Amino acid sequence: MKTNTPQKSGHRPTPTQNETLWLLYCRPGFEQDCAQEALQQARRLRPVTVIEQPAIVPDSGYVQLTLNGQDLHYRELIFTRQLLRLHVVLQNLPERDRLTPILTALNDVQGEFGVLWLEVPDTNDGKMMTAFTRRFQPLIEEALLAQGKLSLASVPVAVGEQKPSRLHLFFPDKSTVFIASSDPYNSANALMGIIRQSMPAEAPSRSTLKLAEAIEVFLDKSEQTRLLRTGMRAVDLGAAPGGWTWQLVKRGIRVTAVDNGPMKGVLAKHPLVEHLKQDGFKYVPPRAVDWLVCDMVEKPDKVANLIGDWFAAERVKHAIFNLKLPMKQRVAALDSALGSIRKKLDDAGLSYRLTAKQLYHDREEITVYLTRTKRG
Ligand SMILES: C[S@@+](CC[C@H](N)C(=O)[O-])C[C@H]1O[C@@H](n2cnc3c(N)ncnc32)[C@H](O)[C@@H]1O
Repeated sequence: MKTNTPQKSGHRPTPTQNETLWLLYCRPGFEQDCAQEALQQARRLRPVTVIEQPAIVPDSGYVQLTLNGQDLHYRELIFTRQLLRLHVVLQNLPERDRLTPILTALNDVQGEFGVLWLEVPDTNDGKMMTAFTRRFQPLIEEALLAQGKLSLASVPVAVGEQKPSRLHLFFPDKSTVFIASSDPYNSANALMGIIRQSMPAEAPSRSTLKLAEAIEVFLDKSEQTRLLRTGMRAVDLGAAPGGWTWQLVKRGIRVTAVDNGPMKGVLAKHPLVEHLKQDGFKYVPPRAVDWLVCDMVEKPDKVANLIGDWFAAERVKHAIFNLKLPMKQRVAALDSALGSIRKKLDDAGLSYRLTAKQLYHDREEITVYLTRTKRG
C-alpha cells in the first residue's frame, strides 16, 4: 500500500470501489500467521486474488492488508487481536506539529466517531511511546470535538442502543500514523485489542490470567453469570499448580483437578477441590459435568481429539482449553485440530459454538471456547 508524506500534498487516494484496506493487530512474532489466516478467510468469502501482498514487518505486532471488497470477521480470526478498517497512512509527521496533517487527513475520512483511541504496537518500542500518546490524546481530542468529527458520549451506551464507531490513531513510531476505524460489533472492545487482567494475590500461578482473560473474551457478562455459577461442576485437566482451578472455585464451582503435580497455596486443601493424580488423557468423570478446562502441554491434535471425545460422549457442556502451537505451519495445524473437533461433534449430531483466539496472555498457544448450543 502507498503512503503519503504530509509535507507534500494530499494522502493516499480513497480506496477504489472494490478495495478494502485493513489494519490488524496481533502478538508480535505472529504477523505471518495473522495475515495468512485473514487471507484464507477473505478467499473463503470471495475466492478472488488479493490486490496487494500483505505488508508485513516481522515482530511489529501488526499487519496491513488490501483486499478486493471482502469483509473480515473478527470473531472467526484466531491471530487477530484487533480488526480495523484502514483509511490512510501518514509518514514523516513533523515533530513540531503532528496535529495539522492528521486533522487535514481526517477531513477526508467519512463518518463521525464516538470513541478515539491512540494506540501503539505491543512491542518494547511501542511501550516507549505511551507517554507520547498520553500527551497527544487531549490535543487531538479537543481538535476533533471542535471539528465535529468526534462526539464523546457522557453516559455509557444503554442496552439495545447502537454502539458508537471508534476512531483509531495507531503510531508504529512517532513520525507515522495509521488512521483507522473499527466497527464495535466486529472488533475487540479494548484499547490495543488487549483485555488486561490484574494478578489475584491468592492464585497459585500466573496461568490464572489466561483463564480470566478467556472468560472475558469469550463470554459476555450475562453468559458469565449464567454459565459460571455456584454449585456447578468442572474438571481441570493438567491443573497443577492451580491457577485455572482457582478461577473456577472463586466462582463457587466444584473442581476435579487432574494432574500428577501438586496443587499449591490455597488449592492444596480446598473444600471445593478434589485433586486426582491421574493421567488427564485417561480420566473419565463418573458423571457429566458442566465445564472442562484443559491446559496440558501436548500436541494440538492430541488435545483436540480428547476434547472432541468428551463432547461426543456428552460428558460436558462447555470447555475452555489451550492448544500449543507448533513452530511452523501453525495455521494448518490449527485447521487440522479444530477441524477434527468439529467433525466429531457434527458426527455426533451436536449443536455447538466454537471460538478461538490467541489471547494477550497466550504465548506459543491459543485458547479455545467450545459450548453446546440449543438446536435452532
Ligand atoms: C501449563 S501447566 C498447567 C498450569 C495450570 N493451568 C495453572 O493454571 O496452574 C501444565 C500441567 O499439565 C500437566 N500435565 C501434562 N500432561 C498431563 C497428563 N497427561 N495428565 C495430567 N496432567 C498433565 C503438567 O503436570 C502440568 O502441571
